[in-house]
This record gives sequence, structure tokens and C-alpha cells, in this order.
Amino acid sequence: MFAMKKKRQAICQKIYHSPRGPLLKMLFGQRSEYVSLILVFASWHPFHDPLPSTTSGRERLSLNAGWKFSRFTTNPDRLQYNTLKPWMLPAANDFLKSGTKRQRPSDAPPKVDYAQPSFDDSAWESLNLPHDWAIKGPFNAPNVSGGMGRLPSNGVGWYRRNLTAKADDLTKSIFLDVDGAMSYAAVWLNGNLVGGWPFGYASFRLELTPYLRVGDNTLAIRLENAVQNSRWYPGAGIYRNVWIVKVNPVHVGQYGTYITTPSISAQSATANLAVTVENKGSASQDVDIVTKVYAVDSVAGKRLSDPAATFATVKSNVAAGGSQTVNGSVTIANPLLWGPPPGQKPNLYTAVTTVLEAGTSNVLDTYETPFGIRSVTYDADKGIFVNGQKVYVQGTCNHHDLGSLGAAFNTRALQRQFEMLKDMGSNALRTSHNPPAPEFLELADKMGFMVLDEIFDCWSNGKTTNDFHLIFADWHEADLRSFVRRDRNHPSVIAWSYGNEIPEQSGTGGAATAQELKDILRSEDPTRLGTTGMNSASAGSAFANVMDIIGLNYQGEGIGPSASSAAPNFKKAYPNKMIWSSESASTLSTRGTYIFPVSSAISTTAGGATAGGNNTAQYVSAYDLYAPSWGSSPDKVFREQDKNSFIAGEFVWTGFDYIGEPTPYDKSRSSYFGIIDLAGFKKDRFYLYQSRWAPNVKMAHILPHWTWPDRLGQVTPVHVFTSADEAELFVNGKSAGRKKKASSSTYRFRWDDVVYQPGDIKVVTYKNGAEWATDTKKTAGDAAKLTASADRTTIKGATGEDLSFITVAVTDASGEVSPRASDAITFAVTSGPGQIVTTDNGDPTDMTVFQNPTRKAFSGLALGIVRANPGTTAGQKIVVTATAAGLTAASVTLEVV
Ligand SMILES: *[C@@H]1O[C@H](CO)[C@@H](O)[C@H](O)[C@H]1NC(C)=O
Ligand SMILES: *[C@@H]1O[C@H](CO)[C@@H](O)[C@H](O)[C@H]1NC(C)=O
Ligand SMILES: *[C@@H]1O[C@H](CO)[C@@H](O)[C@H](O)[C@H]1NC(C)=O
Ligand SMILES: *[C@@H]1O[C@H](CO)[C@@H](O)[C@H](O)[C@H]1NC(C)=O
Repeated sequence: MFAMKKKRQAICQKIYHSPRGPLLKMLFGQRSEYVSLILVFASWHPFHDPLPSTTSGRERLSLNAGWKFSRFTTNPDRLQYNTLKPWMLPAANDFLKSGTKRQRPSDAPPKVDYAQPSFDDSAWESLNLPHDWAIKGPFNAPNVSGGMGRLPSNGVGWYRRNLTAKADDLTKSIFLDVDGAMSYAAVWLNGNLVGGWPFGYASFRLELTPYLRVGDNTLAIRLENAVQNSRWYPGAGIYRNVWIVKVNPVHVGQYGTYITTPSISAQSATANLAVTVENKGSASQDVDIVTKVYAVDSVAGKRLSDPAATFATVKSNVAAGGSQTVNGSVTIANPLLWGPPPGQKPNLYTAVTTVLEAGTSNVLDTYETPFGIRSVTYDADKGIFVNGQKVYVQGTCNHHDLGSLGAAFNTRALQRQFEMLKDMGSNALRTSHNPPAPEFLELADKMGFMVLDEIFDCWSNGKTTNDFHLIFADWHEADLRSFVRRDRNHPSVIAWSYGNEIPEQSGTGGAATAQELKDILRSEDPTRLGTTGMNSASAGSAFANVMDIIGLNYQGEGIGPSASSAAPNFKKAYPNKMIWSSESASTLSTRGTYIFPVSSAISTTAGGATAGGNNTAQYVSAYDLYAPSWGSSPDKVFREQDKNSFIAGEFVWTGFDYIGEPTPYDKSRSSYFGIIDLAGFKKDRFYLYQSRWAPNVKMAHILPHWTWPDRLGQVTPVHVFTSADEAELFVNGKSAGRKKKASSSTYRFRWDDVVYQPGDIKVVTYKNGAEWATDTKKTAGDAAKLTASADRTTIKGATGEDLSFITVAVTDASGEVSPRASDAITFAVTSGPGQIVTTDNGDPTDMTVFQNPTRKAFSGLALGIVRANPGTTAGQKIVVTATAAGLTAASVTLEVV
């Protein structure tokens, strides 16, 4: 007890002499003993949520619950970024190496009522984060373009929350960590403007300590989104997780570790570690820094109890108000490597760094760094090698929205997307076109995806009136450095992209900016190569010359239906650079919708009834042969890749449909590019990619459906996607011919002369002469009932964050899906502690708000997303029922775990 008291007195002395001393003196008077007493009292009688007793010195607490929110379509406070900017710019200081540090102005920023503790927010909406204020609609929001998804993302949003601090908290450094807020976030504590960060996709930290007081505090965050600030649906609000981090004044800094694994063999791996310790106190501190490396059990997700290696203890001194970076190196015996399945396993390690008061066992901070041991090499002739094994890049590009959930981040929703992509044989992801949620990379690490981590869609020249180009000059360095520092320990990240189809790629000045950004990347992470997605820069151009990796958008397969790949030109110009298709295909289709006649070409530009489009219904044919003027079918992309075997692979535009950018029908709500639709239902081409990317999966898939009462006697082509090399089609039991994949450039089997008669079509496929897989499509009878199935029948109840995705199908009496059914289906929780979150059907033209529990089936299917009420205990059951007029209802039972 005496020793404890002595230690507290020592801490108090330090605090009194720290920059925050005056504040404490104000609060507690001049006598340090008094503070000491209060601290003892606080630890015995916590007057706020008792914190878990911890010896780690660090707490990271979710700040997602308990917010008040209001949105304003016209500016309610006369504030704008330009008036707040001088107080926001200093937040970038930790991420600036060029130029001078930004000083906070000495005068006070404009005062604003919404940030004051006295403001009455009782009439505002109560909510929890992550939150997307635009997703509840309605669609056709005034002044929001089709490109941006027609949802009300514009306007000013204010968030307010109470924050209770204990006396003990004022002895610490208290940070607010925001994983993502859309956009122009400005943060106040108790009416004081703390700072802000404008880029809506960035994660950022602000220090609250100087403005914090014991007892109640008022945190207020202002966001603002202009109209015309994005080419796709940006979402709006604090749409990712928010945290409070409490640490001792001496602690590991933000993103304060960097681990690399420069040499790897089966017997041993070297891990190099840099640790940056920051001292926000007023006295210099001698520290011992100890780091132990643990393997992580991939099933339990927990680290093993015995370390795999321990870095030599490093002694250091961290000056008051300064920071110190120390380095170490260690050998890990028999390392378990990280690599993409199915060829390799995504094994992970974690490094636990402890900062101790020198020569004592007094822990100042504990900081954990998950990482993986792996090597990546980029071979100009053969592509990507992970741990010496060639891995063909089978990737997709995706925007950040999660369909009907909007931009509001949800781990399970993203995990479900990753699971579907993995089933398709995909092994790579491009974070088009901006930094993902931190959990995206955690999932990619665990599941073994390779990530092309991308940060910018534009630089100084904008693509829309109010996009990032407005703040590029002030923020690009800080945004880029903080992005790389946040993400560079993830083994899943195999390359950086610092631009997508940058307007300057063909003009002047682009090469110089590209070089500047590349140099920043190199200085933060020399282990990975950088690239941009180039849709117009030509081989030998000053811009392309800068790239480490030649990233081709559409040029990889040739822009448009008749062009062939530009990759050979790039190969000639850059014989020693790796080339990949950073963006490919852009195939358009609407799930389950087949439009006749069917093009006989391998790839066709979509346009009206004779080219796969229905301009009235605004659908594109699901034969998956159609693309916009710059795009290609998957088949054409495969052909060009196979002709140019040095291409390292592709990132298809896109894995999932997304909100906004509804090419070619601008009146729609969501895109047509996805391999999987907005609801998460597979389009036919899922199987075309699977046939190529997962060639060992025994699969055959027939299209179209076979229920065409209006096509009796008409030619109705039948196509088959399969990993087999031979296929025979049977129409009502009669062979329509057995075909072999004619050449290496045939990627689908097609019987284009089949005449429709009701009944069934069946394909029997063979590989190397042996039967491989079959598929059948039958003519459905009258719709009679619903069927319901859940992606998982257990759901976690504790936080309410877990989700169950319920698919409902309209079928005939025998269970055959009615492929053109559009019955209105109502989802309800008919018993138990759950709720319907959203519904969807993947129809890009459906303007019913996502929260509506009634959803028309589209091509026979509808989706309901369900969660357990927060706080639900294990063992309870939730029954979800789907009903539709004239059809037998269906239900599914979920068990809360
Ligand atoms: C839409 O834009 C017009 C013209 O700028 C403006 O007058 C109007 O107030 C805007 N409407 C909304 C709802 O934002
Ligand atoms: C904060 O507390 C005050 C007083 O208890 C209350 O009126 C207000 O609604 C609270 N605000 C939030 C965001 O919870
Ligand atoms: C420590 O590691 C960092 C990051 O790898 C590196 O930039 C720095 O040069 C290293 N310092 C020393 C002294 O080795
Ligand atoms: C196009 O869509 C309209 C409206 O849904 C429909 O009536 C028409 O039959 C469709 N045309 C074709 C050729 O599929």
C-alpha cells in the first residue's frame, strides 16, 4: 500500500509539471497530496464504469454506443471547412516530413452552439455507430446524382455524446480514434475545437486530453458532405468504429510499430521491428522495451501461451514531449508462413511490445501488432510469388458499401462477401478506390486474401466538383503516410495503389506527382511496390515510367470489344516490370434476366434490345457477354490473359454490385458490374469465374432458366460454365450435341440453336474423359410457396452486431424456383428477440427503401437481414417468417449463441 502511494505521488509530481499541470492545479488546487488522495479514492470507488483491472497500461474502449444525431440539408451553423481548416491542419503533423509543422492558431475558432455542453440535444435521434445517415433514404434525394446512388448523403451532420472521465483519466493521455467519418470531420470537446480530418476514408486520431475534465464531458463531431463529391455512393456519417484509447503519457505511438520479415526459409525467419515510443509527459523517461512474438492459433484466433521468439530488451530514453524509435531483430525458428489458400495457409503471429519504466517491472504500455511471415516477389515474366510459390492474381475490385446496409461498417457483412468470393476461387482484393475499414485487412489476413491497398481516386485534378482534389495539396502527404503506417504490418497487403485512373495520367504534371507519392510510399514502406490503375497512360509515357508495377485498367484485355491487349506494348517498354490488370472486364448484367437475341460474339458493347439491353426495364442480359464501351466479357479478358502469360492476373470490376454508378441506366439505384448482385445473390458469371479460378471444384452451371411460356418454339441459346473440358447437353432427354473445349480460348460451352419447349435441360460434363459434374434446369410450375434459408442458423446476441442473411425463394409446389416471380414478400420476426435490419433483392431499379420489411422478389429471390436485439443471451431462439399473398409462408429459426 505504502509503495503504491509513493508511486502515485511520483506520478502526480510528473503530471503537475506536464503541460496539463495547470489544468490539474485548477481542478485540484496546488497540493499534490490532494491529487494523490483523489487518485486513491478513484481507484477504490470508481464513479464511472469500473474498468477491467489491467496491468497493460493501455485501454481501448468502443465509443460506438449512445450518440445523439441530427442532419441538416442546409448549413445550420455557418461553419465550413475553410473557416475550421487552420485548427484542423495540425492533426496532420505526425505525418508530415516535408515542409513545416502546422501551428494551431492562437486565436479561438468560431464558437458554435451545437458543440456546447449546454446545447439541448434531447430531440435529436439516438443511435449507435457505425452509422450511415443516407442509407435510410428515400431514393431520388434532391440534387444527388445517379452516380452517387440517389440517396441523401449530402448536408451537415452533427453527432454528440457524453463522455465521463475519472480523475485517474486526467493522469493519462486520452485519444479519440475514428476509423472513418464521411466527411470533413471536425471534433469539439466541451465546446473547444480539438481538430479534424477531412478525408472521409481516412482513419485518424485526435488527442482529447487538453480539453478533458473530471465528470461529464461533451464530445461533438460535425460532418459535411457536398453534393457532387464522389463518383459512387459515398455513404455519410460516422460509418466506421470509434474508440477511446487511454494510455500513460509514455506509450507506443499511433501505428507505432513496423514489422518486416526480410529473410525467410523453412528453418528460420528474421523479423525486424521498429517501435516508436511517445512521451506526452513533462519529464524525460528511461524505458525498457520488451517484445515477444507469439504464433496465433488460426482456429481459436488466440495467441499461443509460449513465445516463438523474444527480441532483446532495448533501453531508451524518451524526451519530454518527444518520441523515440528503437529497432530490433529476432530469429523465429520453423516459421509458419502466411500465404493465400488453397496452395498455402494464412498463418499469423502477433508481437506483444511492453514498455517498462527502466529497471523496474512497472508497465507503462502494452501494444500488440498482428503480423505474418511471408515474402512477396514481383516477377516481370511470371507474376507474383508468395513464399517462392507463384500465385496467379484472381481478384475483384469492390467499393466500400455493404449493399442494403450502406456504408455503415459491419464485420459479418464483409466476412460474408469474402466467403462468397473465396468460394468462387478468388484470392485477391483491390480496395477501390480508397482505404478500407481496418477490419477489412484483419479479415483479409485471416482468410488469406492478397490485397492491393488503394488510397486515391484523384489528385489535384478532380473527377467531380467537390471530390478529394479540393484538399489534395494540404492533405495528401498526411493521408498517404498515415494510410501506409496503419496498414503496413498486414501480410495481406501485397502492393500499394496511390491512384485510380488519375486524370493527370495523360496530361502534364502527372509524372511529377506520381514520383512524389511513390517516394512517400517508399519512405514509409520499402518492402512493397506501388502502382496506379492506368486506363489511358500509354507504354513509354512519363507517367507509366514512374510505376513500379504496371497496373492496367481495361488496357490489359484491350479497351472495347474488338481491341486486343495493350500489355505486349507495356512489356516491350518495361521488360523488367511486373504487369497486371488492376481493373478488368466491367461486364454488365442483371441477375436472372435474359434478353434475346443473344450475341454470337465473345464480347459485345451493351446497347438496347439488339445488344443485351432492355431500355424499358433497364436491365442488361445475364448471358454475361455485354459490357460498356470500355469493357469486355470475362471470356475476352481470359483470352487476352492467356495470350500474354506474363500478366500477373486481374482484379475484376466488380465482385459485388454497389450503390451508385448504375451504368448503363442512370435512373437506377445500383450498379450492374457485380459478379454477385447487391443482395449477395450470384449472377451466372460467378460460375464462369469459378470454372477458371477453382478448376478442381467439380462444377457445371447451365443458363438461362427454363421457364419461358412466351418463347414456345423460339430459339433460346443454352450456355454452360464448367471446369470440365467436355460437355453434352440434353433437351428433354435428347442430346443436343457433345462438345469439347475447342481451344484454349474457349471459356464457355454454348448451344445457340436450342428451341424452347417446356421440360428440362441437363448438361453432363467430363474432364479427361471421366464424368465430372452435371446441372439441370426445369420448367417451373405455378408459384405455390416460399422457401427460406439462413446463411448461418446461429447468431451472436451480445452486441447485436452479428447478422443472419435469410434468402427467400418463390417456388412451385415441387420446390423449383419460379425464375420470374416478383411477389411482394414480407419479412417479420414472429418470435424471439430479433429484428429485421434491411431487405433487398438485387434489382438495380428497385427504389423501395432498404429498411422496408416488404420486398418484391426479383427473379424469384429476396433477402432479409436479421440481427438479435443487443444484449440477448445465448440459447434463445429467433423465428423469422416470410409471407406473400397467395403463397405458403416459410420460416427459419435462428439460435442465439
Ligand atoms: C438543390 O439545389 C438547388 C440549386 O442549387 C438548391 O436551390 C436547393 O435548395 C437544393 N435542394 C436541396 C434539397 O438540397
Ligand atoms: C448527455 O447528458 C445530458 C444530461 O444528463 C442529457 O440531457 C443529454 O441528452 C446527454 N447526451 C447524450 C448525447 O447522451
Ligand atoms: C529502424 O527501422 C526503421 C523502419 O524500418 C528504419 O527506417 C530505420 O532506419 C531503422 N533505424 C536503425 C537505426 O536501424
Ligand atoms: C423489356 O422490359 C419490359 C418492361 O419490364 C417488358 O415489358 C418487355 O417485355 C421487355 N422486353 C424484352 C425484349 O425482354
